[in-house]
Amino acid sequence: MPTSSSPRILVFDSGIGGLGVVQALRSLAPSLTVDYLADTALFPYGEQQDDVLRERIVGLVSQACAELHPSLAIIACNTASTLALPLLRERLTLPIVGCVPPIRWAGRVSTTRTIGLLATSATARRPYLKQLHEEFAADCRLIVHGSRHLANMAERAFRGEPLESLEVQQELGCLFQQSGGDHIDTIGLGCTHYTFLMPYFQRLGPAGLMWLDPAPAVAQQALRRLEEIAKPPAASNPASPSDRFFLTAPPPEGQNLASHIAWLGFTSGWQVFP
Ligand code: DGL
Repeated sequence: MPTSSSPRILVFDSGIGGLGVVQALRSLAPSLTVDYLADTALFPYGEQQDDVLRERIVGLVSQACAELHPSLAIIACNTASTLALPLLRERLTLPIVGCVPPIRWAGRVSTTRTIGLLATSATARRPYLKQLHEEFAADCRLIVHGSRHLANMAERAFRGEPLESLEVQQELGCLFQQSGGDHIDTIGLGCTHYTFLMPYFQRLGPAGLMWLDPAPAVAQQALRRLEEIAKPPAASNPASPSDRFFLTAPPPEGQNLASHIAWLGFTSGWQVFP
């Protein structure tokens, strides 16, 4: 695990979703320095056109890597990863860890062989999802709900706003009320924002389900990749401040957000990037 000369990494998402991965990183490698970048100006990614998103993600992540000098970047967003990961890897030389719907994991653990996936509308319609299904869980029935609302609900829940049970139940209904939905025994979170809805899902969803959140596995993969880098640049340089939180547009309740990111180590509040 990184210690005194801990490297700096970049975690990228459209909003607060990637903070689930940061939370996992904090418990596995507390001394790691993290720059977080949330593209709030274009949130929600799940409702944007693919060509707009692709250009935006590649441009913004490239600029962030050039200016913030991370040793590794985590694209902690399924919507971004399923669209732009190959292109980012082509353009940038640093290691890039992505985040994709946990279809393989679900296929390994489901006993009914009916798996559910909650994701953004963009991730739900991507050919990448079909490929994952065919490659890793072809013998399972995959039932998907591509939601227009859950990411926004997660943003609200993260800022401490209580959600109505009914609004969460309606979203879950869109999954379970599909044909065969009553056979689902395993549900993957195909959007990193949903980490912050997990308490609602577990309380309001049918009993006895397995809910799979890939955030800890993504954090572990990033740490493995970091260890492979022979000499990552140290983040202990005094000119290089510790954990920073960047947004591309100010949030609706800035002060409120600052208090909610402090527990994840972002004690200097947020700043606008670039
Ligand atoms: N957190 C993102 C994901 O994992 C996307 C949420 C959004 O901006 O729609 O897909």
